Amino acid sequence: MAVSWQADLSDLPTAGDKRLAVRISNDARKHVRRGHPWVFDGAVTSVTGGPAGEQSPPGTIAVVFDESRDFVGLGLWDANSPIRVTMLHRGKPATINEDFFRERLEQALDIRRNLAASSHTDGYRLINGENDQFPGLVLDKYGQTGVLKLYRAAWFPHLAMLLPLIADVTGLRHMVLRLGRNVADGECFGLHNGQTIYGEPEEPTLFREHDLRFEAHPFSGQKTGHFLDQRDNRVRVGTMSAGKSVLDMFACTGGFSVHAAAGGARSVTSVDLNASAMGTAIRNMELNKERRAVAQCDHKTIVGDAFEVMVDLQRQKRSYDIVVIDPPSFAQRQENVKAGLKAYKRLTELGLDLLNRGGVLVQASCSSRITAEMFHEAIDQVTWARRQRLIDIVRTEHAVDHPVNFAEGAYLKARFARIDG
Ligand SMILES: C[S@@+](CC[C@H](N)C(=O)[O-])C[C@H]1O[C@@H](n2cnc3c(N)ncnc32)[C@H](O)[C@@H]1O
Repeated sequence: MAVSWQADLSDLPTAGDKRLAVRISNDARKHVRRGHPWVFDGAVTSVTGGPAGEQSPPGTIAVVFDESRDFVGLGLWDANSPIRVTMLHRGKPATINEDFFRERLEQALDIRRNLAASSHTDGYRLINGENDQFPGLVLDKYGQTGVLKLYRAAWFPHLAMLLPLIADVTGLRHMVLRLGRNVADGECFGLHNGQTIYGEPEEPTLFREHDLRFEAHPFSGQKTGHFLDQRDNRVRVGTMSAGKSVLDMFACTGGFSVHAAAGGARSVTSVDLNASAMGTAIRNMELNKERRAVAQCDHKTIVGDAFEVMVDLQRQKRSYDIVVIDPPSFAQRQENVKAGLKAYKRLTELGLDLLNRGGVLVQASCSSRITAEMFHEAIDQVTWARRQRLIDIVRTEHAVDHPVNFAEGAYLKARFARIDG
């Protein structure tokens, strides 16, 4: 079926042929050669050429050299960002054109081949930014709808070429553009956050996750409309839930809650600060009511601050067989790491207080600045201090559609553990 374009791509700037020569320190070269995708401002030792030297527009192709003038790679220039160059390619010289991006896209689809062939799941990440060699660009798929989210303005001069290519290679019927906060603040060349690019995307849009039905909100939902990264952890919770009472903290649109109900949970309580997300959680439960287990599950939602709600539930002497804790990132910046670890510890304490004897704690972190080691150590410190013991069921990280190819690309970690005694 022909793609019906809703955005005028002819208004978009193009990168042009004038390339920037960017020289970087030998130290930075080592990182880039090892596969790191970012060159910071402090590592750039000289900039020449391009349409306007250092002031060349974001997205100008940067040819990166080291101090000995040896070729390092090719990237996207952005003078407005402390990450001056995001690497697209390293090694031998190459041409950045439609064929280059087509190959990259095909590689991304290739590692997700099993997901694409699945008749159980049609919501997953197609491009995971730097980790799929598209720095600052994410593409999520919800059924036939794609949500392209740009975290870097450097992509604008390449969109006129890239958007038709994405339509062609992915076969998506509809596409919505979302812009990260930094990007939406600047020059967007007539494009805006939540813009229909092609087709007729709907909000909500329906998709399947391991045979369960969900609605996503491509125009207005958090991130791209749903948290796809926890898909496999949600299934795991489902398989543990038969006959159990489940507390789903930071439940958002109810991913864990619906899987728990479908897995036979006796009751599920979903908690989130965001009332609209809780409304979606209720509808997501409804969407699966033709399953007897979901229809029979006693589902309650609470809109409120997780830390306060957990204290309240404890005061009411409530307790649960499974407590899921999946908060937002607590350490967006390096200086927040200490406070973030404290928050994770507090949540572990609150979770343990609400667990029945022998119950299961499922705690996750999506803070990339807090490593898996730091996260698990924080949980252990709490249990040691309380003279309690957690027996690990499993520790998980990223699913196949969220590959990780550099240290900062790893953000998700989760611990499934049974409280001993
Ligand atoms: C990482 S998302 C959770 C994703 C969800 N578990 C899922 O599977 O889709 C974090 C959620 O925490 C919510 N949130 C942020 N701060 C909160 C707070 N203080 N109390 C409760 N919820 C909060 C956000 O609204 C968001 O829905």
